[in-house]
Amino acid sequence: MTEQDFILKSYNSNIDKGSVKWASPSNIALVKYWGKKAHQIPENPSISFTLSDCKTITEMTYIKKDNQGFSFDIYFEGEKNEAFKPKIQTFFERIEIYMPFLKDYHFKIETSNTFPHSSGIASSASGMSAIALCLMSIEKELSVPESDNVEFQDYFNQKASFLARLGSGSACRSIEGELVVWGKNESIVGSSDLYGVKFEGDVHANFKNYQDTILLVDKGEKQVSSTVGHQLMYGHPFATKRFAQANDNLAKLKTILASGDLNAFIKIVESEALTLHAMMMTSMPYFILMKPNTLEIINKIWAFREKTDSKICFTLDAGANVHVLYPEKEKDDVLQFIKNELANYCQNGHYICDQIGHGANQI
Ligand code: PMV
Repeated sequence: MTEQDFILKSYNSNIDKGSVKWASPSNIALVKYWGKKAHQIPENPSISFTLSDCKTITEMTYIKKDNQGFSFDIYFEGEKNEAFKPKIQTFFERIEIYMPFLKDYHFKIETSNTFPHSSGIASSASGMSAIALCLMSIEKELSVPESDNVEFQDYFNQKASFLARLGSGSACRSIEGELVVWGKNESIVGSSDLYGVKFEGDVHANFKNYQDTILLVDKGEKQVSSTVGHQLMYGHPFATKRFAQANDNLAKLKTILASGDLNAFIKIVESEALTLHAMMMTSMPYFILMKPNTLEIINKIWAFREKTDSKICFTLDAGANVHVLYPEKEKDDVLQFIKNELANYCQNGHYICDQIGHGANQI
């Protein structure tokens, strides 16, 4: 598929109004996307676990209008929200060429998250993918009748991911599948810089229902937005090596996912998290996004692993919170350990238990 394939050629302009609703999950990258080219094209491929319970639920109501320009209102958790408007305006401008009906309607966007507001969990992946899916459902309603065949479903998901990517890069990995790859990589057939694809390789039973407990170390606003973060990779002294490393790590992870080698999995995942943070520490300007408690938690996880032979490991996004990853069969022991030893390092003792999910759902 190319960009041209996602341009809607014709639609039925007689439909006056309607409403669609989607729940879309967050995701956590195992191989990290950090650095992009123009038009939200990633510098390197990434792969993520889709989460199950951390979701954004969005309803979009559309009503035909006459005047020119984009028109929309956003309600976040029941209240009108002006702060999100510029991001949606930019998003609409970017995707208008692919969705020529956007100026024909007024949109009421009502959105809420299943995870607490200001938990420090990025809601851009779940939020942007939910809006992209709603827009795809509207496109489907306005389209000349399409059969609900497999081909159309593939197109629907690919275009939803393509649009979500234009809202927020990692959002393109929140549409469909337990593991999603985004970015061209030799070892993944069908991988694309334009949209995320469901990982179709073999996945060993060790990774089924893999657990992710998110330790909320810092619930504040991110110190560095991901937009600024990606820009820091321009001219970064280690950029070229980093992008090559991500490609290698993805190829290695493909084999590890098939073999179920948890020790090898831990090495890649933790190294990816620390490399992401190392990139930020070695950029100009430089940032330290971990907090003292992030390091305390990492050391406790390492000590626990040493002592118990557990396969627990951590990953980080571009902030201080820690995602604790572990196999389902260790759930009771690890949750006990988190409660006894890690919760103290979380803000107000707060953490969120989640696990691998399957992707977004229409409601
Ligand atoms: O989707 P963005 O532009 O917010 O970038 C997210 C980047 C990381 O979360 C740090 C890594 C990733 O691959 O999700």
